[in-house]
Amino acid sequence: MQSMLELAGYATVAAALLYAFFGSARAYGEWRQSVRQGLEEQEFFRKRSKTILQAAIGHREREHHTWNGDRKFTVDKKFHESANKDICSFYLKPHDGKPIPPFEPGQFLTFRLRIKDQQKDVIRCYSLSDSPLHREYYRVSIKRVPPPRDRDDVPPGLSSNYFHDHLNEGDILDVAAPNGKFYLKQDSMRPVVLIGGGIGLTPTLSMFNTLALAESKREVWFFYGVINSQDAAMTDHLRAIEKEHDNLHVVICYSNATEECRKGYDYDYEEHVSVDLFKRLLESNNYEFYICGPPPMMSAITSQLEDWGVPESDVHFEAFGPATVKKAPAASEEKAQAVGAKVTLASSGKTLEWTDDADSILQLASDNGVDIPFGCGAGNCGTCVTAIKSGKVSYLSEPASTPEEGTCLVCISAPDGDLVLDA
Ligand SMILES: Cc1cc2nc3c(=O)[nH]c(=O)nc-3n(C[C@H](O)[C@H](O)[C@H](O)COP(=O)(O)OP(=O)(O)OC[C@H]3O[C@@H](n4cnc5c(N)ncnc54)[C@H](O)[C@@H]3O)c2cc1C
Ligand code: FES
Repeated sequence: MQSMLELAGYATVAAALLYAFFGSARAYGEWRQSVRQGLEEQEFFRKRSKTILQAAIGHREREHHTWNGDRKFTVDKKFHESANKDICSFYLKPHDGKPIPPFEPGQFLTFRLRIKDQQKDVIRCYSLSDSPLHREYYRVSIKRVPPPRDRDDVPPGLSSNYFHDHLNEGDILDVAAPNGKFYLKQDSMRPVVLIGGGIGLTPTLSMFNTLALAESKREVWFFYGVINSQDAAMTDHLRAIEKEHDNLHVVICYSNATEECRKGYDYDYEEHVSVDLFKRLLESNNYEFYICGPPPMMSAITSQLEDWGVPESDVHFEAFGPATVKKAPAASEEKAQAVGAKVTLASSGKTLEWTDDADSILQLASDNGVDIPFGCGAGNCGTCVTAIKSGKVSYLSEPASTPEEGTCLVCISAPDGDLVLDA
């Protein structure tokens, strides 16, 4: 009994002291709130400084740990990401056990595959689909490519089906270092819109994961356009990130929702991702836009953004196939004008004549037994860059980024007069 009285006495004294100090219970509440906020901010700055420090170390380490040519990687984990099992992630670890360089979110890896019954190595690019802040592995997520509709006579996609059907945990792959000009500007503080259509999800997901892990305070919108829940990949992951961060928003659009698809969880809108939707959800057009998706989606969104007054410098995009957004004018004219030009491949000792049916210098060389390494075949990846010894080329479609002076991307170029290449 006595101790209860003592406790009550202490409580009264404590309350009196608090009152004397803070003036009122409300002021005390406000003080507690500001202490809590201070602690939260401290935690935020602790995490942020850790990430900035990691990025700075990463930058230095990129130069230190990068490699030339191919490096062996082991498939550490293989994981199906979509209900229809058409998208599979491969977690890769370096076979030599040494550190791997960080990459820019949005970049890709180039693989050299030795596939049975194929005379030549098959070279393909796949975007890194997770954040570079995970320093112990690289991840790519690959969609199985079937034959084109109504073409039962042609084989399904070589590399994608090889990954799905023949590569298992423990297998070893030859991989070129991360590359690519389509990546998130991490030093910008501006709000950002990421758009992934179908398997074009992968580079924008890497950007999204990075912004989330880095506890970025930027306003971020992730628009994912896909057919329905059978095709959709990693939506649980996207929703979980959205739940944890007030500034990261996820909008999932299905083009063909079925009865099993749950509106409000599986997807938000049954429509294509479009600028019309942005106008309904975003406060303005003042965002940095990053887009990767199928050609019709890319063309539609980039031209709608232009009409909406978004400066070209704020729109970044990458195509997985032949470039469809920026077309160089009069490509067929350029090809026709080149007929009869001599293309000398100096290292191979061959001189070839450009003909009416040649599609690119790469194809002309390949048809004549000269293999120039290539990845995308579409002016995106830079794998086919070749030094020009003399002469000029004209581009049949606009390269994603201009190659260095004195070199050209042979996969999308034709000779502009007689040409000598170091190939
Ligand atoms: C920078 C970049 C990043 C990329 N990132 C990703 C990614 O993250 N995930 C991903 O899944 N993909 C990605 N890709 C696409 C990937 O590189 C491949 O292009 C894709 O996997 C298809 O390659 P494949 O070897 O499977 O198909 P291919 O063998 O190249 O075949 C392509 C299509 O042609 C058809 N075909 C075959 N022979 C003929 C014929 N004789 N006549 C007509 N048609 C024929 C095939 O059936 C198939 O439909 C990326 C591409 C680039 C350039
Ligand atoms: S092969 Fe990719 S740019 Fe030419």
